[in-house]
Amino acid sequence: MPTPSTTTILNYHNRTKHTLERYAKSPDTLDWDDQPDPFRRFSGCEVVPLPRPGAMLQTLFAQFDTPHLIPKQPLNRASLGLLLELSFGLSAWKAYGPNRWSLRCNPSSGNLHPTEAYLINTDGMLMKPGLYHYVSYDHHLEQRCQFADPSNDVGLLIGLSSVHWREAWKYGERAYRYCQHDTGHALGALRYAAATLGWSIELVTRYSDDETAFLLGLNRSHDFIDNEHEFPDFICRIHTRSNHAPLPAQALLEAARDGVWSGKADSLRAYHLYKWPVIDEVAHAAKKWHTADANWQAAPQHLIKSVCHTSAVDIIRSRRSAQHFDGTLSPLPSSDFYRMLSAVLPAAKIPFDSWPWSPKVHLFIFVHRVEGLPSGLYALPRSTDVLQKLKAATLADFAWQTVSDDLPLYQLYPGDFRQTAKTLSCRQAIAGDSAFSLAMLAEFSEPLEEQAWNYRRLFWECGLIGQVLYLEAEAAGVRGTGIGCFFDDSVHEIFGIKDNSFQSLYHFTVGRPLEDQRLQTLPAYGHLPAL
Ligand SMILES: Cc1cc2nc3c(=O)[nH]c(=O)nc-3n(C[C@H](O)[C@H](O)[C@H](O)COP(=O)(O)O)c2cc1C
Repeated sequence: MPTPSTTTILNYHNRTKHTLERYAKSPDTLDWDDQPDPFRRFSGCEVVPLPRPGAMLQTLFAQFDTPHLIPKQPLNRASLGLLLELSFGLSAWKAYGPNRWSLRCNPSSGNLHPTEAYLINTDGMLMKPGLYHYVSYDHHLEQRCQFADPSNDVGLLIGLSSVHWREAWKYGERAYRYCQHDTGHALGALRYAAATLGWSIELVTRYSDDETAFLLGLNRSHDFIDNEHEFPDFICRIHTRSNHAPLPAQALLEAARDGVWSGKADSLRAYHLYKWPVIDEVAHAAKKWHTADANWQAAPQHLIKSVCHTSAVDIIRSRRSAQHFDGTLSPLPSSDFYRMLSAVLPAAKIPFDSWPWSPKVHLFIFVHRVEGLPSGLYALPRSTDVLQKLKAATLADFAWQTVSDDLPLYQLYPGDFRQTAKTLSCRQAIAGDSAFSLAMLAEFSEPLEEQAWNYRRLFWECGLIGQVLYLEAEAAGVRGTGIGCFFDDSVHEIFGIKDNSFQSLYHFTVGRPLEDQRLQTLPAYGHLPAL
């Protein structure tokens, strides 16, 4: 029997499906002057500057294959600054005529950036123990809370939250899904950034949403303007050394309770003309009420080694979404294709070493132009036990023919799917002009029946996979783009899915990008005052 929460979530999920006939509810018109500020600031906080962004590190992208061998950088303001910059900081500004907009190391649907990042520091040598909010525009920290008892040194933690309304302003009801994708991308961005420094991260699963909100000060409703509050996502512990003691989860909550708080969130400067109550409803239904420890670990897998000996920092800073692909250029080498697929398998490799749950998301791939591989529809189940379920849930005439000895890749149906892929992804040409595009098919009803909040987790897993594809594409000299806009049930129909056992939650596309020569690229932090 579905619980009331699961029913609310299923209703939300169904009503926010795009169909060939109509899009999910969103504003009739967009008032660009009303766009919420993508940069949150708190007034009345002490500001902690970080060293100027743009520093380099020796780590090469290929070293991500063996993250435990990357030399550990000492924890100081410079390394902390790099961690934040390479996860959530600016990567460039783009200009077209009088318009100027910034891009960040973490991608975001519509470049609206609902994700906010907080730092919990307990190392008194680094800065005063307490909670800080990261402002990516200024690349500095705002101290929200000073902890009273500095004796509990557990190192660094990063907390993420989402301002749903920033995304809903443009995308209306479907925005809640995109916020969750963005959180998954942000987790991936954080894991890659930590790896450049030889550090690892641990997603702390035991905190409930209320505890996360408490630790990050998000429950202090009088510090936020109505409709502009933040929803807790999760907290990650950053392991900068190998010998960290277990996290005293309760002691941290007490430190926040007894700390001295300061600051109020500035207005995001918008009029809130539209209201989307269904987003608050689903956020409540998908709340993580109970604390639960999770520590699932992937079995070691055969991985195809990276051949990218470019600086990891350069790859992270140059990650971009392709806006157009050249469908006439040479096909993608199959070695690059297989390496990208290998990188999304749940193995002990980053970023999945920090994902504490068993994989629930599987790829259905439209191969358009990959050297030596017939075009057609392929499947990459990311766990062995899902194969029979997938076969049972999809079209009976899929061949499920093994393609490679090294990867669980199956050819389902040969043919030219360029037009189909484009149509399914809201008629966006990027899904058909690329080398390949794909649908992320999540096991759906079972995880939801287990716990309603798993709804969010499924989208996070999709975002995490997307972040791997973004960086692997960049490392292979091509480019990717996340696709949140697709006609949900038309995708299911093409695959033969008739119920909620599986649902497509995210799409992605990879190929040779066409650069828009009209756009000017400016440095990420040219606006900061010279030292
Ligand atoms: C969850 C998500 C969904 C997205 N959906 C689309 C999409 O449907 N179409 C598209 O062209 N770009 C899409 N993008 C790409 C964003 O527009 C892009 O990340 C944003 O403009 C920032 O640019 P950057 O990735 O180059 O930093 C999506 C990105 C994310 C993270």
